[in-house]
Amino acid sequence: MRRVLIKGQTKLEGEVKISGSKNAALAILAATILVPGKTVIRNVPDLLDVKTIIRVLRALGLRAEYSRSQDNTVEVWNNNGVKHVAPYELVTRMRASFFVIGPILAKKKLAKVPLPGGCAIGSRPVNLHLKGLEALGAEVQMEHGFVIVKAEKLIGNMVYLDFPSVGATETIMMAAALADGTTTIENAAREPEVIDLANFLNRAGAKITGAGTEEVKIQGVAELKPVEHGVIPDRIEAGTFMVAAAITRGNLKILDVIPDHVETIMHKLQEAGVKTEVCNNQIMVSAADAPKAIDVKTLPYPGFPTDMQPQLTTLLCLAKGTSMVTETVFENRFMHIHELNRMGAEVKLEGQSAIIKGVAGLSSAPVKVSDLRAGAALVLAGLVAEGETIIEDRDHHIERGYEKLDKKLKALGVDIKMI
Ligand code: EPZ
Repeated sequence: MRRVLIKGQTKLEGEVKISGSKNAALAILAATILVPGKTVIRNVPDLLDVKTIIRVLRALGLRAEYSRSQDNTVEVWNNNGVKHVAPYELVTRMRASFFVIGPILAKKKLAKVPLPGGCAIGSRPVNLHLKGLEALGAEVQMEHGFVIVKAEKLIGNMVYLDFPSVGATETIMMAAALADGTTTIENAAREPEVIDLANFLNRAGAKITGAGTEEVKIQGVAELKPVEHGVIPDRIEAGTFMVAAAITRGNLKILDVIPDHVETIMHKLQEAGVKTEVCNNQIMVSAADAPKAIDVKTLPYPGFPTDMQPQLTTLLCLAKGTSMVTETVFENRFMHIHELNRMGAEVKLEGQSAIIKGVAGLSSAPVKVSDLRAGAALVLAGLVAEGETIIEDRDHHIERGYEKLDKKLKALGVDIKMI
């Protein structure tokens, strides 16, 4: 059983270096299936989820490992062909493993990947991924919980995404990279992680334009070539530390961040009275007082990110006044509310909105982690709660998404133990 113990009421002071983006790294590692020979990916965070996708690549016949000579670097050798079946126990453990379906199909014209389960935050369907693969000429079957896709060849086409799904955009981009002809994705996801994947593929010889806009064009090429790539910083980790500085009324310098990627997060924190100052790839965040109450709605990028909703909700539990947080991306992303209320917060759920009546303080309590960002929210609550908060994280969600979180917080003066 993984437990996180945090002694509250600490002001965060100092500086923290942001790690590479989990979500960019997972998509890019799946894309190494498309690249022959040796690929080197730098600035990869050392996370359980990355270790899982590395195991999936190995199960598919590639050699993949964290480099022994360089930190946060993963080397992939893709010389002996790719198996077409992805292992059930790994894909169901981490849904991002499903992203291998596009690259395997592009290489083998056949792929058999388990349907990823839902998770705490929602049913997580993959219909848009499959709609895209069908548009490229694949035939889709479901068999005993596996998705089987096959195609004589993949032919470029236009695909309209009913929702700007990050994963579907990435799946289609990867499958279309080696298709015959040009593919256009309409209403594509615009997240920075999609742009980073496109940059990686283009560096390997793909021809992708428009990544980061709602229309992405992929002109298929015959093959890709070995490449080195550095993953972008994790904007959600950066946002989480920005909230940590705000909620503890501390003073934090955040290093290795791309300010553009956290612009909306900064705007909402400024609206709540938090001071932020950008200097190149560093952001200073400080707060001297309780935050003002604000309203926020999560939206696809460049809107306020759903992956920051639990963290901002936690901050607003201590605001002067009543705030409203509306979650429009996932259908069940308020699990942290019940735990926050056990710590003295006063949050009511009304449909897809949380009505948060600010309180003067939180008090420690034993709480449970339901999903990755809810775990981050409870850590933030533990930083300010009076007493020692015991966070039960049975599925190691926090370690799945935050590299060395205890070490980084200890260096900022926090009394935290992960046991
Ligand atoms: C990615 O998940 C991220 N994960 C998520 O981060 C993030 O919350 C999400 O994008 C939104 O930004 C990775 O990149 C590995 P979506 P993804 O497809 O691709 C619906 C974290 O904490 N949908 O954009 O699965 C879906 O149900 C994780 O790091 C369909 O209906 O997200 C959801 O309501 C959590 N059909 C919405 O779209 C589909 O085929 C957004 O999902 C696909 C998605």
